[in-house]
Amino acid sequence: MTETYETHTCDVLVIGAGGAGMRAAIEAAGDGASVILVCKSLLGKAHTVMAEGGIAAALGNVDPQDSWETHFQDTMRGGQLINNWRMAELHARESPDRVYELETWGAIFDRTPDGRIMQRPFGAHTWRRLCHVGDRTGLEMIRTLQDRTVALGVEVLMEVTVTRLLKDGHRIAGAFGYNRVDGQFVAFRSKAVVIATGGWGRIFKVTSNSWEGTGDGVGMGYEAGAEVLDPEMVQFHPTGMLWPPGVRGILVTEAVRGEGGYLKNKDGQRFMLEYDPKKKELSSRDVVARAIHKEVEQGRGSPHGGAYLEVMHLGADTIKKKLPSMYEQFLRLADVDITREPMEVAPTIHYAMGGLWVEPETGATTVPGLFAAGEAAAGLHGANRLGGNSLSDLLVFGRRAGAAAATYQRDVTRGNLHERQIAEEQELLLKPFQSEGKENPYLLQQELQTAMQEGASLARDERGLRACLKKVLELQRRIEMVHVPGSRRYNPGWHTTRDLRFMLTIAEAIVRAALERKESRGAHWRLDYLEKDAKLGRVNYIAYSDSGRMRLKTRPVPEMPHELSRLFGEPEPLPAQKTA
Ligand code: FUM
Repeated sequence: MTETYETHTCDVLVIGAGGAGMRAAIEAAGDGASVILVCKSLLGKAHTVMAEGGIAAALGNVDPQDSWETHFQDTMRGGQLINNWRMAELHARESPDRVYELETWGAIFDRTPDGRIMQRPFGAHTWRRLCHVGDRTGLEMIRTLQDRTVALGVEVLMEVTVTRLLKDGHRIAGAFGYNRVDGQFVAFRSKAVVIATGGWGRIFKVTSNSWEGTGDGVGMGYEAGAEVLDPEMVQFHPTGMLWPPGVRGILVTEAVRGEGGYLKNKDGQRFMLEYDPKKKELSSRDVVARAIHKEVEQGRGSPHGGAYLEVMHLGADTIKKKLPSMYEQFLRLADVDITREPMEVAPTIHYAMGGLWVEPETGATTVPGLFAAGEAAAGLHGANRLGGNSLSDLLVFGRRAGAAAATYQRDVTRGNLHERQIAEEQELLLKPFQSEGKENPYLLQQELQTAMQEGASLARDERGLRACLKKVLELQRRIEMVHVPGSRRYNPGWHTTRDLRFMLTIAEAIVRAALERKESRGAHWRLDYLEKDAKLGRVNYIAYSDSGRMRLKTRPVPEMPHELSRLFGEPEPLPAQKTA
């Protein structure tokens, strides 16, 4: 017997209204599908607005030598060659068109003196490639996509949390969740679903991610039978705010270094000259984050355990023009005037390279009717994402997933919603109100974040990972004893309880895969296996559910065709290219 719920019907349900979700909705609606876009937050507030430094696309406006081929190589090298080459190719080829499209839809980019879209340097990009709007690029992107979404008449439901995908047999039939404001249950009957729920940074204690980043979409996909690829690959952005404690983890854009900022230790040394003499502060994120970690470990850190980031030498006018948000952010939140004083920064969890396995051209997962795009999908970035590649990822693969979902829905009938699945989900959702247990969801969440930060973050080893896995499994048992007081009307404790189930599932996948990958590669730094292992460089890890039990398997990294592998130079064949 189910409690009452309202039902919405559409062809394509898009879950998540960040860059990928909105771009998918725009494409599907443009293709004639009826689309509903749901978001946990308010439209326009998705985490994409926090993306600051720019969109990577080889326009060649500032460095005419740039090309899609170089962008492709940079992306593959950054990902340490466990990326899906086809995704990297599509991304590099299509990003310029997606940027120009955004411009025709009204995005106002910074300009070169002759009026073209301005591009700035970023870590591990060979050429100046990031199209930007000061240090507020994500905000402009979301504003533009939002205008377009609304203009196309896409139905948007805000403050709705989707908690379960519904299936009819083996295929997707819709989804179920609740309205955060009044706690009423909501069902969606749709022929296709696009997951665009972003990442899972909130599983860790120190993160640049906003509150939505709890891995819901990937957790739901996993529960519905989809595969989770490379969950162990979690990126630390080298520069998050460090002090005061209340702002710890907030992003300090790479654009600070792109515009010429220096990283220094407490002795005033520009330590990146030692770690990467060629790229210096603009080395890839894994390298810079590890360098800061080592400086602190060796006693050369800043007072609160990080590094200094200086831009004073750029001059106040340039700082205020090129980095206005950073200027405001430090002044307001830390009482630091960055035109006169250095910033204090430390690595912060920023991005999940792992996510749902998708088919490169369409974003289709292994579950018929289920598509994914953006940070919730995996493959493009391999072991380490280059800055700015995420915004172009959202546009390129959001569009592809929306188009594929619209095409798919044309050929299928609407599936039936089965009351048994709805009743199961309602029971799970209502359990914390009825439970006589004593566990508090916030405390469990804190314990998880602490365990992940200590055992599965920047520097990993077997002992720490094992202890972390033990804790995650313990928390999975204790969540059954959570009690939440009050009603379903805007009840954050209740919301946290459901989020926590997804966080615990993803945490388990991260730790299990991190234990298995006995090597250091990209963001995955194993202190007990410091070298790369050529064999492991040929495989991706995949977590999947086997009758509710998490299993892990490997799959060969897709083999790159010769016309692309030759771009990396013949004398040094790619270790990742031979099928295991
Ligand atoms: O540093 C930044 O502005 C972040 C950009 C990104 O993660 O792509």
